[in-house]
Amino acid sequence: MFLDYFILISVLGAIVVSLLYTVITGISPVSSTFQSRKEIIKSIPLDQAGFIYELGAGWGALAFPLARRCPKAKVVAYELSPVPWFFLKLRALVMGPSNLRVVRRDFLKEDLSGASLVVCYLYPGAMEKLSTKLVLELKPNAQVISNTFEIPSWTPYVIHSLEDVMCPKIFHYNMESAITSMHQFIDILFSIIV
Ligand SMILES: C[S@@+](CC[C@H](N)C(=O)[O-])C[C@H]1O[C@@H](n2cnc3c(N)ncnc32)[C@H](O)[C@@H]1O
Repeated sequence: MFLDYFILISVLGAIVVSLLYTVITGISPVSSTFQSRKEIIKSIPLDQAGFIYELGAGWGALAFPLARRCPKAKVVAYELSPVPWFFLKLRALVMGPSNLRVVRRDFLKEDLSGASLVVCYLYPGAMEKLSTKLVLELKPNAQVISNTFEIPSWTPYVIHSLEDVMCPKIFHYNMESAITSMHQFIDILFSIIV
């Protein structure tokens, strides 16, 4: 009887905390679809090195395949919501891989300048916040892959279209094209003001 109550209260608590964090972060921990994950993983070279930051890792649907695909890279999976973070952390501790690090932090408050590659599946509001942050912080040779949502005022060098209702497009960016379009944006802004 005590165990039944304990399980019930734990499940209800987990649901309430998850809902609360969905409101705080602006997005639930819904996973990328199988097709979009396959497309993202396939597009990353096997010899990708350096730091790969996954911004908002959810339950780890992308973090684990990313770390396995790129053994030369260190994958840092950021997740703020405690419930998915706990399962992600537990799974990483038990099963590895050793090049995956799971952190419970707000990626918007982190220094992302060490990234060779940033991967995310977020929502339009977060892409807007990331647009300026990534331009200011990422190195010129860094790459960004965004599932479904474009980074405003950046120009992707490749867009993969999928027959997938949930995740119809994958946007690939490098900093060169991003910075060029940012300059265009600043030029336009300047011409309006002056
Ligand atoms: C749509 S899920 C994506 C999960 C995973 N990346 C995937 O593709 O399967 C987005 C996740 O980002 C997390 N998130 C949103 N904003 C965040 C922030 N500022 N810092 C850390 N995690 C965040 C949410 O909690 C949610 O779990």
